[in-house]
Amino acid sequence: MSTFQAPKGTYDLIPPRSAKFLAVREAISAPLKNSGYGYIETPGFENVELFARGVGESTDIVSKEMYAFETKGGTKLALRPEGTASVLRAALEANLHKAGNLPVKLWYSGSYYRYERPQAGRYRHFSQVGAEAIGAEDPALDAELIILADQAYRTLGLREFRILLNSLGDKECRPVYRDALQGFLRELDLDEDTRRRIEINPLRVLDDKRADVQKQLVGAPMLRDYLCDACKAYHEEVRELLTAAGVAFEDDEKLVRGLDYYTRTTFEFVHDGLGSQSAVGGGGRYDGLSEMIGGPELPSVGWALGVDRTVLALEAEGIELELPASTSVFAVPLGEEARRVLFGVVTELRREGIATDFAFGGRGLKGAMKSANRSGARYTIVAGERDLAEGVVQIKNMESGEQSAVALGRVVEELRSRLSS
Ligand code: HAM
Repeated sequence: MSTFQAPKGTYDLIPPRSAKFLAVREAISAPLKNSGYGYIETPGFENVELFARGVGESTDIVSKEMYAFETKGGTKLALRPEGTASVLRAALEANLHKAGNLPVKLWYSGSYYRYERPQAGRYRHFSQVGAEAIGAEDPALDAELIILADQAYRTLGLREFRILLNSLGDKECRPVYRDALQGFLRELDLDEDTRRRIEINPLRVLDDKRADVQKQLVGAPMLRDYLCDACKAYHEEVRELLTAAGVAFEDDEKLVRGLDYYTRTTFEFVHDGLGSQSAVGGGGRYDGLSEMIGGPELPSVGWALGVDRTVLALEAEGIELELPASTSVFAVPLGEEARRVLFGVVTELRREGIATDFAFGGRGLKGAMKSANRSGARYTIVAGERDLAEGVVQIKNMESGEQSAVALGRVVEELRSRLSS
C-alpha cells in the first residue's frame, strides 16, 4: 500500500472537482435557509448507544456498518453513520423543543461513516446535507421538505431523478401488518439469513433484490391495505400537497428504508443514471424516535441528500455547473521591485473583494503566464522595471490578448470597472 493512498472506501475532494461539492452543498442548503431552517452542527461521534437505540440494533447500519470503538477512558463511541439521531439528541439537550416554537427546523452538512463494501457511489466516508423538522405532526411539513429537496435538485439542473413515496403506518397499524407479513413470510422457502430477518425486521425482506425471493413475494400482504384511517388521511394530504405544488412522485408501496425509526411518510430520491446505488437522498417521518432515545413525544420529519451521489448524478447527466472562476485577476511581477509593488496591488484588490492571485516563486515571465492562463483569470497585470519607472502597470485582457498601460494609482478602479462590465 502506498503511503499516499487514502483508506479503502474513501477519496479526497480535490480541485477542480471539489468545487462541485461546494456548489452542491450550497444548492441543497439554499432553499432550507430560505424556509426557516437554522444551521446545526453536532460532533462527528456520539455515544454508541444513541445509534443503537435510535437507528435500530437490527439495521445493517448499526449491526454491520458502524465504526464503533472504545476510548482510552472506556467510553463506547461510534463515528456517526447518519445525522438524524444526533440532531434530535442535540435539540433535546439544548431544550430547543421547550422554547415554545415548534417545529424546530434545523439543517446540517457534514461527513458520515459507514463500514460498507465500497463500490461506485458507495463509500465508507461520505457527505450529506440534511434537514430535520422536530416536534410537529403536519402533512404540510412533510410536503415542505420534499418540495425543498425537489427545488434544490431542479436548481442544480437535475432532471433524471424520481421521488418514490410511501407510508409505513404508525404504532397502531404497523404492528398488525408486521404480524400478517411475518405469517406470510414464515411459509416461504428462504435461506437462514432471510428467515432470521423475518423475525427481526420483516419489512426489509420485501426489499430483497434476488429474483427467486421476489417471485415468492407475489401475493404478500401489503402495508397499504393495513393503514389505519388516520395514516391513510395523513398520507393522502401529503400526496395532495405535493401534487398542488407540481412535484411529481411515484407511489412505491415497497419502499422500506434502512433505518428503524420511520413512521408514516417515507420517501427516496432516486437517480436513473447511477446504477445500483441509485438513491441520492431519502427521509421520512420519525414520530417515535425521540421516545426511543429517552425524550418526550416529538413527532418529526426530515431528509438527508447524499452530496457524493448528487455530484455523480450531475456527471451522469452531463451537467456542467456554472461555477464562477475562482480567480479574476492574476499578477505577474518582473523583478524584485515589481514583486513588492504588485504584491501590494494584489492585497488591495483582494480587500476590494476582487478574486486575485499572484505569481509566487519568481519563475520568470513564461512560467508565470502559464499560471495566469491556468488560473482562469480574465485579466493579468504585469509590471517590470520600466513600467514602474513610468508609474504604470500593464493590464492584459486574457481573452482578446489586448494590453494597455494604466497608472499604478488607478489599477484597482480600472479593474473593478472592467470586471463589472
Ligand atoms: P440514508 O438513506 O441512510 O438516510 O442516507 C441518505 C443519503 O446519504 C443516501 O440517499 C445516499 O445518497 C447517502 N449515502 C448513504 N450511505 C452512503 C454511502 N455509503 N456512500 C455514499 N453515499 C451514501 C439517512 O441517513 C437518514 N438520516 C435521512 C433522514 C433524515 N431521515 C430523516 N431525517
